[in-house]
Amino acid sequence: MRKTAILIAVAIVSMACSKEVVRNQVEVIPQPASVEVYEGTFDAAGAAFKADEDFCQLAKDAIAEFEADLAGASAKASASADTRFIFEKDGGLGEEEYSIEVCGKKAVIRAAGLKGVFYAIQTLRQMLPAEVYTGAAAPEADWTLPCMKIQDKPRFGYRGMHLDVSRHFFDINEVKKYIDIMAIHKLNVLHWHLTDDQGWRLEIKKYPQLTQTGAVRKQTIIGHGRDRKGYDNTPYGEGCFFTQDQVKEVIAYAAARGIEIIPEIDLPGHMLAALACFPELGCTGGPYEVWGRWGIADDVLCVGKEETMKFLEDVLAEVADLFPSEYVHIGGDECPKVRWEECPHCQAKIAELGLKDDDRHKAEHYLQSYVTNRMEQFLSTKGKKIIGWDEILEGEIAPNATVMSWRGVEGGLEAVRMGHDAIMVPYTHLYLDYYQSKDKAEEPLAIGGYIPVELVYSFEPFTEEMTDQEKSHILGIQANLWTEYITTDSYLEYMLLPRMSALSEIQWCEPENKDYDRFLGNMDNMAGIYDILGYNYAKHIFVK
Ligand code: ACM
Ligand code: ZN
Repeated sequence: MRKTAILIAVAIVSMACSKEVVRNQVEVIPQPASVEVYEGTFDAAGAAFKADEDFCQLAKDAIAEFEADLAGASAKASASADTRFIFEKDGGLGEEEYSIEVCGKKAVIRAAGLKGVFYAIQTLRQMLPAEVYTGAAAPEADWTLPCMKIQDKPRFGYRGMHLDVSRHFFDINEVKKYIDIMAIHKLNVLHWHLTDDQGWRLEIKKYPQLTQTGAVRKQTIIGHGRDRKGYDNTPYGEGCFFTQDQVKEVIAYAAARGIEIIPEIDLPGHMLAALACFPELGCTGGPYEVWGRWGIADDVLCVGKEETMKFLEDVLAEVADLFPSEYVHIGGDECPKVRWEECPHCQAKIAELGLKDDDRHKAEHYLQSYVTNRMEQFLSTKGKKIIGWDEILEGEIAPNATVMSWRGVEGGLEAVRMGHDAIMVPYTHLYLDYYQSKDKAEEPLAIGGYIPVELVYSFEPFTEEMTDQEKSHILGIQANLWTEYITTDSYLEYMLLPRMSALSEIQWCEPENKDYDRFLGNMDNMAGIYDILGYNYAKHIFVK
């Protein structure tokens, strides 16, 4: 008798959810892979929460945080209603996959672990009033979700965003905010550019000079570098670095949001901050200064000297110990060879290694390959793989290196043809330090270029000629944010948003799910989230 009653109840509930699909889209960015919306609603205010005991602690924490925010924002204590969120562990799903099934009194979320749980929660948060991001009470808002089925997983496993903290420094609070913004958009890698000519920003215990002398430039060029307006005569960078304890804090903060941090130590060029501390590691012996201007410096590390290799290995050993990521980014971009051409140490190394000019490259390019190779070998002893900018293709690419293709997509294409992995970051589409309006006079000073939201959205990393094998080597997509002209937190956010929303769709959505008009339509909802969280964002796409 009881069993029959249950069967009838199940039949009624499933009838309620088997009604016709009324929509196949929700206002969520990035657009989920598959969405079916039915008639009927689920009241999320005061809903009870149940999480599978088998989930890891971080997944349970993410669920508990959502529950608390929802109870606060809807001003109804959890479990005060007869509706329920049920989080079930489903080992059959991929690490980043999730499903949401909302029907009648139940919202069932299935995921294999933290990432799937976290992404499902991001989707649900975007479908609820924006107060759910802050927990601020909004009892009058509409706290219902539609009855629906969402099945979702990302197109690419690498969904990166880069941050340069050398040219201008962004402290731990702003880096965490940056991570929060990434998390809302389901990105999963922060590429942290920690060192450059203009300031060394990572504590290295063996070489404290790097974050004393190496963090501080005595002045900074005024205005745009090409205008040659002189220098501001104001030191910049005292105390502007991350201690290793702070780095651990940031890594844990990111990990709780499904984000891995890949550190970059840019070598052997872009090293003036280190050379200012250790002039003996340069070809000329210096003196050198932490650079106060932007661009490409001729002075780079002298790689003919064994003590330079020792310095790099010491630094990378600490980096490898500190960061749990599979990869360390070793830079490799924009390394002029003029000093090496004149340097007896570098030339002796070229002779010792038997490197020769050929019709493709000069001996000095092969000298850079030698350095990259040595760093790859060294890091592999620490269990790490390397990523390098596409210049590492010049000369001979290191055997297991992943190429980050920034000078267009060609470097990435060449890498995958050779069986290497690649990440696409072309400056033509994904350099978020470029202007986002043609009306440059009305914009804050930027490096140049023009990359509006639509151009970001149009990027497609696969080409028609690519084989499936080659496609499988494209790990994903990243956008870069260089900070020569970005001096404040608020300007940083302005350059990031809303272009990161477009980035998230090209990283997450299969091409058939991309639709710029649908995306634009969903951006009003996203703007409400930016507003409530106090993010500064560019308004161009919202001007009707
Ligand atoms: C780069 O923009 N120099 C990688
Ligand atoms: Zn040298």
